[in-house]
Amino acid sequence: MEAILLVGGQGTRLRPLTISTPKPLLPTAGVPLLEHQLVRARDAGVTRIVFATSYRAEMFSEAFGDGGRLGLDIVYVTEDEPLGTAGAIRNASTALECDADSPVLVLNGDILSGHDIPAQVAAHEKGEAAVTLHLTLVDDARRYGSVPTSPDGRVMDFVEKSPNPPTNQVNAGCYVFRRSVIGSIPAGRVVSAEYETFPQLLAAGEPVCGYVEAAYWLDVGTPAAFVRGVNDLVLGTLPSPVVEVDGSGVLLLENASVASTARVDGGTSVGAGARIGAEATVESSVLFDDAVIEQDARVVRSVVGRGARICSGAVLEDCVIGDGVTVRSGNQLLNGARVWPNTELPPTAIRFSAE
Ligand code: GDD
Ligand code: MG
Repeated sequence: MEAILLVGGQGTRLRPLTISTPKPLLPTAGVPLLEHQLVRARDAGVTRIVFATSYRAEMFSEAFGDGGRLGLDIVYVTEDEPLGTAGAIRNASTALECDADSPVLVLNGDILSGHDIPAQVAAHEKGEAAVTLHLTLVDDARRYGSVPTSPDGRVMDFVEKSPNPPTNQVNAGCYVFRRSVIGSIPAGRVVSAEYETFPQLLAAGEPVCGYVEAAYWLDVGTPAAFVRGVNDLVLGTLPSPVVEVDGSGVLLLENASVASTARVDGGTSVGAGARIGAEATVESSVLFDDAVIEQDARVVRSVVGRGARICSGAVLEDCVIGDGVTVRSGNQLLNGARVWPNTELPPTAIRFSAE
């Protein structure tokens, strides 16, 4: 089976992490975020994937090349200007090789999901559907596409990012399209799958089906979600074929070092060459390569960028530190604070909270 992977978004809600790296390539438990989904797609029978790229397109081919490393055949189709989700699917479909009736898997590039892809494809074939959407339940559907279904699994409506969603059952960002349906999306202009294509297919009476499965599912769109996703991979809450879980609650990448008196836990991932000093606490956090946490520092539910330095006694809670930043002793960064790359927070103690 062939697949299209949507990876052209700018990941604005994850800045400053996404200034230099597109969201789908953020290091996530040792590999680029989307590698977890790529390998799951491969294991589900996908052999060839078309990447629909736009923002920093060249970084995807640098990371994955022709896909040989993962046992996949990967090709790239780049939009000069982003074409929107359906515009990107239409544009990427020029590189598909399958015939008009074949199912094509389409994946958002920022999702971690444990759902059963072959079962979704089987539901699509059984329902003779135009499109079959993976649907999942969330507590608050306002940030997602809300998708009510009939008892026989037909999609009744598609309501994207509404303040009053009709149901907490949402679009999980993994579709099976009949290839000929992709051909009916207008070419050469911006088209949104969520605001145009799905509502239009429904209005035309096309069979659009829902495949409901409440497996592990996370949209890695915000720093808090990114941290949680990494924690869940390291703890094994979301098993990934490319993460080895050893029960310690910590993932140490190549040449990472942790002082014996440091306390590190809660699904923390410690990047290659990163160092954690004596008596430091690092809880449920993500340290990118070569980050340094000095002695007595305290880092909780935070992301520390590549080569950043958290000096002795500094405190970080729920915050994002860009690459190359130095946070001097005495600083406390709390509640969603974000520090842009290569800045230095001075030795005079500040206490900064974004909320
Ligand atoms: N190639 C390309 N071109 N890709 C794009 C473009 C584009 O113009 N716009 C967005 N993408 C990619 C993003 O990189 C991401 O992988 C995916 O499409 C979805 O975009 P997001 O920006 O992450 O959308 P969202 O999270 O707000 O909402 C979408 O996902 C939710 C589930 O996580 C929608 O599909 C919702 O309906 C859904 O509930
Ligand atoms: Mg998203």
